[in-house]
Amino acid sequence: MAIVRVPSEDRTLRGFDEARQHLAGIDIEYERWSAARPVAADAGAEEILSAYRDDIEKLKSRGGYVTADVIDVRPATPGLDAMLAKFSREHWHDEDEVRYIIAGSGVFHIHPRGGPVTAIEVEAGDLIRVPRGTWHWFDLCTDRRIRAIRLFQDPAGWAPNYTESGVERGFEPVCLGPSYVPAQ
Ligand SMILES: [Fe+2]
Repeated sequence: MAIVRVPSEDRTLRGFDEARQHLAGIDIEYERWSAARPVAADAGAEEILSAYRDDIEKLKSRGGYVTADVIDVRPATPGLDAMLAKFSREHWHDEDEVRYIIAGSGVFHIHPRGGPVTAIEVEAGDLIRVPRGTWHWFDLCTDRRIRAIRLFQDPAGWAPNYTESGVERGFEPVCLGPSYVPAQ
């Protein structure tokens, strides 16, 4: 499950309830999904969408999302550096950013107005909904791999609007990973 950190308070939240509650407090929805039937992480996009159809349909009706697709990012993906550079600076969208992670990992940094930045390291099984207008940025982990279902209200609204605050420069996109043991 996701590892949630508040770097400025040197706090790491690892329990599901604790993480979910903290994220709800900054308006970020967090859930864990599992497929209605077994599906391989490298299955075709249609097969993935079909295995998660029930969850996707529920989310669509709740959030007004009209389309869903599967994004597949690998180290060899053409133009990967340019793509990552687009989203690793603080920005917001006019649409919600909804991601369900099928494989790989990455770190969302969420910057609530007037509150400390929260880092969310997502992995397979995590669903995150970043509401429209939320200041945030995203980095991949060092394996530069992520596969995720995306939901859109209007794909055209998903372009980044930059805050140009430079706040992201104060945060390392560190991935702790499942084997990380926090120092006591
Ligand atoms: Fe974004």
